[in-house]
Amino acid sequence: MSKPHDPAHFAPADGCWTHLRLAPGLFEADQAVQADALACIVVREGRIAWVGPQDAVPRRFDGLARHDGAGMLATPGLVDCHTHLVYGGERAGEFAMRLAGASYEEVARAGGGIVSSVRATREASEDQLFEQALPRLLQLLDEGVCAIEIKSGYGLALEHERKQLRVARRLGQALGVTVRTTFLGAHALPPEYLGRSQDYIDLVCQTMLPALVAEGLVDAVDVFCERIAFSLAETEQVFQAARGLGLPVKLHAEQLSNMEGAALAARYGALSCDHIEHLSPQGIQAMRDAGCVAVLLPGAFYALRDTHLPPIAGLREAGVPMAVSTDHNPGTSPCLSLLLMANMACTLFRLTVPEALAAITRHGARALGLQDEHGLIAAGRPAHFVLWPVAHAAELAYWFGSRPDCTIVRQGRIARTSGHGRA
Ligand code: NIG
Ligand code: FE
Repeated sequence: MSKPHDPAHFAPADGCWTHLRLAPGLFEADQAVQADALACIVVREGRIAWVGPQDAVPRRFDGLARHDGAGMLATPGLVDCHTHLVYGGERAGEFAMRLAGASYEEVARAGGGIVSSVRATREASEDQLFEQALPRLLQLLDEGVCAIEIKSGYGLALEHERKQLRVARRLGQALGVTVRTTFLGAHALPPEYLGRSQDYIDLVCQTMLPALVAEGLVDAVDVFCERIAFSLAETEQVFQAARGLGLPVKLHAEQLSNMEGAALAARYGALSCDHIEHLSPQGIQAMRDAGCVAVLLPGAFYALRDTHLPPIAGLREAGVPMAVSTDHNPGTSPCLSLLLMANMACTLFRLTVPEALAAITRHGARALGLQDEHGLIAAGRPAHFVLWPVAHAAELAYWFGSRPDCTIVRQGRIARTSGHGRA
């Protein structure tokens, strides 16, 4: 029996979406829209066919249905560009340990951390992982996420990494949402490889990655380059394997210390470097020169009670595009709200509101190589957009702890309809 979240239940969004306001900087109009003027988005056959002032909609769209946007603010569908959404179990016990004074590194060295999620993930079947991840993804989607990245990295063995990536693909199909999969086999050293890091990296590069790529399960490759994970040299070996298979790379870079991983990733044309609290000025320049996106993860910063801020002013000055993501994971960011992350990016990292909104749309899309499909309202693209019952764009980053009652058009279908209030 099909479920209520099955996209087959959603009505097509085709028609003229009228009485809209367009969020500045997040659309390309076919005809200029004066500030404060009402706008229309025309959807035909699941794609955006026209964007412009609502009193200038071309006659050729006269026959289409009308959807009253009731003055709501339109943004592109949100993009959550860094998640570890598929895993077994949870790690609330570790949260308590950290509150009692243990650091993330100490917890990891004591056999907790990533490796404890690896145990739970290995024990779970593919169907169990799917059932556990489904409600998490539904929460993100209910807030307007239309594209999401899901990493492996809690299996750390071929069959278990495969299980995670297969679940990621299945989630995308079951819920009608764009899912980009990232292979993060080099997330932590599995316990059975203790003292044999090079052997594990060889397995990642020579066996796991090629097999998973052959099964069509990998869109990009990531590494956790850190003292408690993998060295710069090991990271480069994984990047070389990815390059050999024609895959883009990303990096968990300079989260706990400066390993100069960002400069390495930039040399490999990385889509993004993520976390980057300890990013150096050289790292910033390398990212700028390579057109690499800086993915900021305020959820992990907050949960770890970190105080070392990422170099926002330097990134801004260099013109490095900044994205913001939930980094949803059971250890350092058990967060299921991308808007909360936008709020924290403003409050903790001092992003401006326009920067935060670009971070969860345009720049998030670019961090996934999806900039032609997601992150911007423009004619020719698949119809992914969200209508928010707010007076000001700033409200999207201002409220926290509540869910806006939005209307969501995802993959050309009406996935949610607003009652025009706050839930
Ligand atoms: O992005 N930094 C490494 N990986 C995750 C945390 C994973 C975990 O602790 O389970 C992150 O924060
Ligand atoms: Fe992460």
